[in-house]
Amino acid sequence: MKILHVAAEVFPLVKTGGLADVVAALPVALAEQGADVRLLLPGLPAVMESVLGARTVIDIGSCFGALRVRLLLARMPGTKLPVYVIDAPYLYKRGGSPYQNSQGEEWPDNLQRFALLGWVAAHLAAEDADPMWAPDVVHAHDWHAAMACAYMAEHLPTPASSVFTVHNLAFQGLFPMPDWALLGVATRLLSAAGLEYHGQLSFMKAGLKFATRVTTVSPNYAREIATHEFGCGLDGVIRERGKQVLGILNGIDDALWNPATDPAIATRYDVERLQGKRDCKRALQAELGLQPDDDALLLTVVSRLTAQKGLDLVLAAMPELISAGVQFAVQGTGEPALEAAFRMAQQAHPGRVHVFMGYDEARAHRLVAGADVIAVPSRFEPCGLTQMYGLRYGTLPLVRRVGGLADTVIDADPATLASGRATGFVFDLAVPAAFERCVRRALAAYQNADTWHGLMRSAMGQPLGWAGPARAYLDLYASLRSPAA
Ligand code: ADP
Ligand code: GLC
Repeated sequence: MKILHVAAEVFPLVKTGGLADVVAALPVALAEQGADVRLLLPGLPAVMESVLGARTVIDIGSCFGALRVRLLLARMPGTKLPVYVIDAPYLYKRGGSPYQNSQGEEWPDNLQRFALLGWVAAHLAAEDADPMWAPDVVHAHDWHAAMACAYMAEHLPTPASSVFTVHNLAFQGLFPMPDWALLGVATRLLSAAGLEYHGQLSFMKAGLKFATRVTTVSPNYAREIATHEFGCGLDGVIRERGKQVLGILNGIDDALWNPATDPAIATRYDVERLQGKRDCKRALQAELGLQPDDDALLLTVVSRLTAQKGLDLVLAAMPELISAGVQFAVQGTGEPALEAAFRMAQQAHPGRVHVFMGYDEARAHRLVAGADVIAVPSRFEPCGLTQMYGLRYGTLPLVRRVGGLADTVIDADPATLASGRATGFVFDLAVPAAFERCVRRALAAYQNADTWHGLMRSAMGQPLGWAGPARAYLDLYASLRSPAA
């Protein structure tokens, strides 16, 4: 089966969040199970500089405001995965993030930049972009790739099916309605039955309405987004799709995130050699200038600093928890107000709080390996990857019971502790007192070495790789090709 994955980011070339990790690992896992998988990416500078052996497949000429557009075929570095790259310097050759300039403002031509991505995907599906290869399934990720589903359903007749995966419903790709003419779609798509969303054009709706199937990245988030509370105004559209919305839990790249082989950490360890984890904690305390204290519960956060992530709860509970013996190591970038608040926390509690405002992969590995607990107190969380990295490293996740966090962490209560199923700590209400109580429960468990080791063992024993999720996607793709689909 031939599958084309379409996305705006892929680790390690371009990454703003977990989407990049998924787009790097899932296609490789699918290929390992026999699928013929390719990737389609916009030609952002890091992509153009890193892909190997690029050759032109087709000269597209001028479209979406760009004078010279070419489709290249190359190979992803570090894998054998073939990757199509859209070379359109006018739209993609610029600094900043894939979505925003260095001042944090959305690029004003995002509509053209991401419509082009979907348009090229649809042409590959329609077998008129590459005479040598056409997908059976186009798998589009998030709003950036969603227009592929609308172009395929409404404009380019193709036997191929489309799958649209929602990684985060909160980012929707909304544009002014008058810009519709730039999309090259029929006016019938401009109603609420098409791309219109409260007077704007919504790329997210293009995926939700026109994909053959919609998936999201955890079963629990699939249920949540059909509700008013989590639906971001699109719950009605999601409910309409009924059983065609499926939740498939993400995996993690367990070659990259493996404490037994991780080159970034002080001492490698596994479930049979846990003293290495103690060395990692000591090395981290020394590196960050935290008090060298084995008895302190070292809690880490590695996260985008945005309202989604609920980190205001951490800030509010911090003074009490520091008095109770907790240390904090925070790494993130994001909203200026949260960054400033974390900086102030570090100044107020030297030796107990360390904050690094920046993006650094190797450092993230050291934090995950060295901490005792990784906190993910999100207000909503489609899947979340860092709590799974925590499980893998015996760094117990402490999470809010929401989205994929609820699907991946089993709270340590008397019953789950007795049966050996507990893997972390879960709280319900998004209020500082609930977070604080949960950390205090973790602290109490930490003070009992047997309990803590039992928890670490069951956390580290969880199956978290991509093989299972890849099988679930292959079953889904296969079901689309059967006549009953
Ligand atoms: P989201 O995609 O919502 O940001 P995820 O938990 O799915 O949340 O993925 C976040 C990814 O980004 C993880 O791989 C995490 O390690 C990484 N990450 C987030 N912030 C940083 C940072 N400041 N430095 C290094 N890695 C980070
Ligand atoms: C999004 C979500 C996150 C998820 C990631 C990968 O960024 O916020 O929860 O883990 O996508 O699917």
